[in-house]
Amino acid sequence: MKTITVNASSPYEVIIGKQLIESAGTYIQRVCNPSTCVIISDSNVFPLYGSILSDALKNSGYQVFSFVFPAGESSKNAKTYIEILEFLAVNKITRSDLLIALGGGVVGDITGFAAATYLRGISYVQIPTSLLAMVDSSVGGKTAIDLQTGKNLVGAFYQPKVVLCDLCTLDTLSPEVFQDGCAEVIKYGVLYDCALFEHLAEYAVEFSKEYVIARCIELKANVVCQDEFDRGERQKLNLGHTIGHGIEAASNYTISHGQAVAAGMAIITKAASSIGECDEAVYTLLCDVLKRFCLPCSTDYPADLLFESALSDKKRSGKTVNLIIPHKIGNCAIMPTPIYRVHSIIEAGL
Ligand code: GLY
Repeated sequence: MKTITVNASSPYEVIIGKQLIESAGTYIQRVCNPSTCVIISDSNVFPLYGSILSDALKNSGYQVFSFVFPAGESSKNAKTYIEILEFLAVNKITRSDLLIALGGGVVGDITGFAAATYLRGISYVQIPTSLLAMVDSSVGGKTAIDLQTGKNLVGAFYQPKVVLCDLCTLDTLSPEVFQDGCAEVIKYGVLYDCALFEHLAEYAVEFSKEYVIARCIELKANVVCQDEFDRGERQKLNLGHTIGHGIEAASNYTISHGQAVAAGMAIITKAASSIGECDEAVYTLLCDVLKRFCLPCSTDYPADLLFESALSDKKRSGKTVNLIIPHKIGNCAIMPTPIYRVHSIIEAGL
C-alpha cells in the first residue's frame, strides 16, 4: 500500500492499494465524522462494488443512501446534477454528512460538483474505479458537468477528503476502458518522467500497476500543490487535450477521451517537431509507445474542424491559446500561441 499527500489548500491523502473498498469506513473515520454517507455511482460500477462499499460503511456505523445514474458521459449534465441535489435534499443530508463518488471520471466529476455546491459545500471522498480516474480526474479537485456546448464547462475546484484507489477495481475494466486510461499514463511520462515513459515502452499494457499508478499520482500531486487553480503549471496536464477535445467533439463522442488524447499528443508533437520545438525522434518515440498500446497517432478530421474546437478551449485567454509543446520526453512547455498561428500549427501536425 502507498500513501501520497496532496498539499492543496486543504491537504488530503491518496491511498493506493488492494481491497480498500472493504475498509472504506476506517479511512473515512480518519478524515471526517459524518452520520450519513451517500454513495453516488453509475449503472456499470454500482452492481460490482455498491453492496461491498455499502456493507463496509454500515459496519462502521454509518447510515447509507445510494444514488445510481445511467453510465456514460451523456449523464454528466445539469439534469443528473439537479437530480442528485434533490435526492440529497429529500433525504435531509446535512453539511456534516458525506458524499462518496464510486466510479470513473464521470461519477467523480459530477459528485465533486454536487459536493461543492450542495448547501454551499459538503465533504466528499473519491473512490475511482477506472485507470483514468485513478491517475487523473479523482486527484486535484477539478469537478464539473458538461453543457450541450462542450465538456466540463461548468464546475468548481473542490478537493476531496481522501482518495481511495483500490487496484482490485481495475480487474473488472474492459480492455477498451483500461486502454483509455493508458493514454493519460503515457502523458505523464511525456510531461515529466523519462523513466516512466521507458517502463511503458518496455512493458506496454503489462506495466506494473502499483509503480505506474503511484508515480502518476505523485506527479499530479506535485503539480496540484504548485498550481491548484490551473493558472500555470497545471495547464501542462492538458498535453494533447486541445486537439484531443476537438477530435472527441468532431466524432460526436464516439471516439473515446483516451483515443482522442493519444492522437492529440502525437499531432502536437509532430507539429512541435515541424516548427523546430523538438527533434523528430521525440515524435517517433511517442508514436512507437502509442502503437504498443494500440492507441492512435493521427486523425482523419481536418485542421478547420480541430481549430474551431481549439477556439473554445478553456486554456484560451483572449486572442491566445496555451498549447502544451513537448521539447523532449519528460520535458514540455506551455507555449502561448496567438490564435492566427494555431490553425497552421494544427495543420503541421496532421
Ligand atoms: N485533468 C487535468 C487537471 O486535473 O488539471
